Amino acid sequence: MAQSRQRRIVLGITGGIAAYKAAELTRLLIKDGIDVQVVMTEAACGFITPATLQALSGKPVFTDLWDGRVADNMAHIALSRGADAIVIAPASADFMAKLANGLADDLLSTLCLARECPLLVAPAMNRQMWENKATQRNVALLERDGVNLLGPASGDQACGETGLGRMLEAAQIFEAINAQFAPKLLAGKQVLITAGPTFEALDPVRGITNRSSGKMGYAIARAALDAGAKVTLLSGPVHLEPPVGAHIERVESTEQMFAAVKKHVKAADIFIGVAAVADYRPARVSTQKIKKTDRDMPLQLIQNPDILAWVAAQPKAPFTVGFAAESQKLNEFADAKRRRKKVRLMVANLAQHAIGADDNEVTLLDDAGLHKLARAPKTEVARQIVAHIASLVTPRRKIRK
Ligand code: CTP
Repeated sequence: MAQSRQRRIVLGITGGIAAYKAAELTRLLIKDGIDVQVVMTEAACGFITPATLQALSGKPVFTDLWDGRVADNMAHIALSRGADAIVIAPASADFMAKLANGLADDLLSTLCLARECPLLVAPAMNRQMWENKATQRNVALLERDGVNLLGPASGDQACGETGLGRMLEAAQIFEAINAQFAPKLLAGKQVLITAGPTFEALDPVRGITNRSSGKMGYAIARAALDAGAKVTLLSGPVHLEPPVGAHIERVESTEQMFAAVKKHVKAADIFIGVAAVADYRPARVSTQKIKKTDRDMPLQLIQNPDILAWVAAQPKAPFTVGFAAESQKLNEFADAKRRRKKVRLMVANLAQHAIGADDNEVTLLDDAGLHKLARAPKTEVARQIVAHIASLVTPRRKIRK
């Protein structure tokens, strides 16, 4: 994360089976250069040991309001002083009840009451506990008090039931923490993004597709959400978790993606075409599985619509951004594509480097020229692309004298 001073987070862990996910969350935060101070409730220590969290955070873990290691015996003040956020993951129903009612009978609840920073809470509990009126009342109170609730998710639970109450995955909580810190460069903007490959059916079991993983498009969606935008993500078939907070619509073929774009484009301020859209599709789609014969089989392909060029040509087109995957003469071909499709910004990358990888090296081409970004994880490249788009969409206003 690009930042001027090291971020500080207090990670509070309460009693719940999801406490094991807090270990992974700590690892992700530390890897991102964030200073993590872990505070655990007594119940949390029944699920995971402070030694694990100490090893991962590289710092002693605090559990006791009267911890003698804090010189003035005011751990509840000292530990959260200067913190950028307190994150409670997992937050049990009991702990949320305490928070909602301002109780402070242990170190973690006291820290939360004495804080000056944002509080992020990731609930984790059994489905019935989550649905209980008392819990829902507490959730409403916490939201009214400005507490940022992360989840819960729906799915299989440790108790064997299925439903709402599962804690978000560590990576999703990590993303939400990053979002908390990101500058809101796209606040109030609607962003429409296409991502992943398309799949052009030949028959009910076969089709033509490509190797796009969707990682770049999903990372851009995440970065745009973090920048305060409302995001609609139109995704081809990929195996990725959708970014929390995005409105996602899944499509298969180019025609389906085109129809979804037509549906959403009017509301969009910005359109980012990251999808590796198939240029051609089979001329004929068999309704039955095609049978093998003893002869070769010619395959006729017909042109697909160019979604990006269509969006850019609309009378009230949103700010339109394209991606160019080239295997040679990157800048030359990408700039020609930018002019041909009449898009405001083209993100150029070498197909052989980008497809399926976790990192990427891109060049941004706009009316002002070339901007080469350093090779970095796709999440970081996405943040820089979003920042560049924001600088073009909302140029900094002159300060009035
Ligand atoms: N694109 C699109 N619809 C298509 C083909 C491409 O919207 N039918 C978009 C992609 O989402 C991307 C950009 O156009 O933003 C460039 O895609 P690319 O495949 O690199 O360019 P093509 O126009 O297909 O040219 P070529 O394959 O010949 O390089």
